Amino acid sequence: PVLVVDFGAQYAQLIARRVREANVYSELVPHSMPVDEMLAKKPSAIILSGGPASVYEPGAPTIDPKVFEAGVPVLGICYGFQVMAHELGGDVDKAALGEYGKTEAVVDDASGILDGSPSLQTTWMSHGVAVNKAPEGFEVLAHTEGAPVAAMEDGSRRLYGVQWHPEVRHTPLGQDLIENFLHGCAGIPNDWNAKNIIDEQVEAIREKVGDAQVICGLSGGVDSAVAAALVHRAIGDQLTCVFVDHGLLRKGEAEQVKHDFVAATGIKLIAVDASEDFLDALKGVSDPETKRKIIGEKFIRTFEKAQRQVIEEAGAQGKEVRFLVQGTLYPDVVESGGGDGASNIKSHHNVGGLPDDIKFELIEPLRSLFKDEVRAIGTELGLPDEIVWRQPFPGPGLGIRIIGEITKERLDLLRDADAIAREELSKAGLDRDIWQCPVVLLADVHSVGVQGDERTYGSPIVLRPVSSEDAMTADWSRVPYDVLATISTRITNECRQINRVVLDCTSKPPATIEWE
Ligand code: XMP
Repeated sequence: PVLVVDFGAQYAQLIARRVREANVYSELVPHSMPVDEMLAKKPSAIILSGGPASVYEPGAPTIDPKVFEAGVPVLGICYGFQVMAHELGGDVDKAALGEYGKTEAVVDDASGILDGSPSLQTTWMSHGVAVNKAPEGFEVLAHTEGAPVAAMEDGSRRLYGVQWHPEVRHTPLGQDLIENFLHGCAGIPNDWNAKNIIDEQVEAIREKVGDAQVICGLSGGVDSAVAAALVHRAIGDQLTCVFVDHGLLRKGEAEQVKHDFVAATGIKLIAVDASEDFLDALKGVSDPETKRKIIGEKFIRTFEKAQRQVIEEAGAQGKEVRFLVQGTLYPDVVESGGGDGASNIKSHHNVGGLPDDIKFELIEPLRSLFKDEVRAIGTELGLPDEIVWRQPFPGPGLGIRIIGEITKERLDLLRDADAIAREELSKAGLDRDIWQCPVVLLADVHSVGVQGDERTYGSPIVLRPVSSEDAMTADWSRVPYDVLATISTRITNECRQINRVVLDCTSKPPATIEWE
């Protein structure tokens, strides 16, 4: 793999994505990982990310300079670049001029990581510290007003550094720089793609599972569908899917999953109606993390109960189901606090929301992937577009879209409003422009309205359309006013208890996509 060493940057995740976009597999590792451990992973290259610290301050995170002597190509970005310059004897100090945002870089030598660059490049910078003099053996490739050394390389040791952020879209030629480094300087082939991931995973799954029985919890979302199809490719009929109707699904969703999925894949499916069980357990609960934990636990207990039926139908009497497949993705892991050094933003139901005493071993074939990669795999596995391009829907479902206690009445109300919003967004042809559009019921909030000449005191519905690349960050979608107007009118007309429709115009961060 290419290792991306995280110095606490907002952008380390993005760097990992950009490397994958160049068809090279990458992994994030914390800067605290000993260099020997990094090298044991046999990295084909190492990228040092940016970070908030200043290298010359005491206690600033650094890296054992051994990393520069191992013969592995290294690219330092922003803070990582300064660490490289500092450790190798360059002059790094407070910048005479800090540069934040759009910055013109003068390219002095368009070679190496800047191969093919024009003599002026628009870049995106964020630094108050500068490399004034490159370490011995390095050639300066570019400079800016505030950064005497803005890019440098030592081709013989294959060490490279850049002050700006090539991983952000605001640096238009950033991806070229990353690909120059990976393919040109480090000589890594661009052969990591959906087909290879499938082959690798199929082999790994077969080896892990042997002749054991496996179940997969299907939620109706893209991730679990792709995970199931992938495992099915590996072990065929040893897999049974269990679709749990927890009563928190959207309108028509259960039927859709039961029919479309089976028709598309031919995988064995058992449907369990556990809605009463879930709603009972959620009675009186309005705290989001408590809801998530209850739902995560109930899922597992339901799978455990479904075990007997799975065994019977598989004709595998006397055996047990040993493995549970989950469609966990990389961002779920990171945001549930599972990534190294990450804090727990919320407990994604299939990671942080799981109980401790699970009887199954987990198979999570998508655990290192981003959503767009999962979609590419789904397509490669032959899943139809209706499944692959469905908007993400969280496992805890509408349970985390009712702010307040969850009741059957509130769920029915939200289901109606959500169906209207989905229908109108589809009709307007916006499905692929919008990453997803949660519809949220603020059940405990009331406001005064006038409907049919009468005073009403109802609850608001929030529309939360967002655009995103991987759900780690998101922007609110600029849905045309006419479409919003139609949705608003229809919801207030057709859902009697709703007298207000509001638009959430907050990006992530500072908000998250879901409200809970
Ligand atoms: P947030 O709200 O964290 O959401 O910005 C990021 C993405 O993850 C989805 N999401 C979940 N998916 N189980 C899931 O399978 C969960 O517990 C969960 N919580 C959030 C959310 O819909 C968005 O796509």
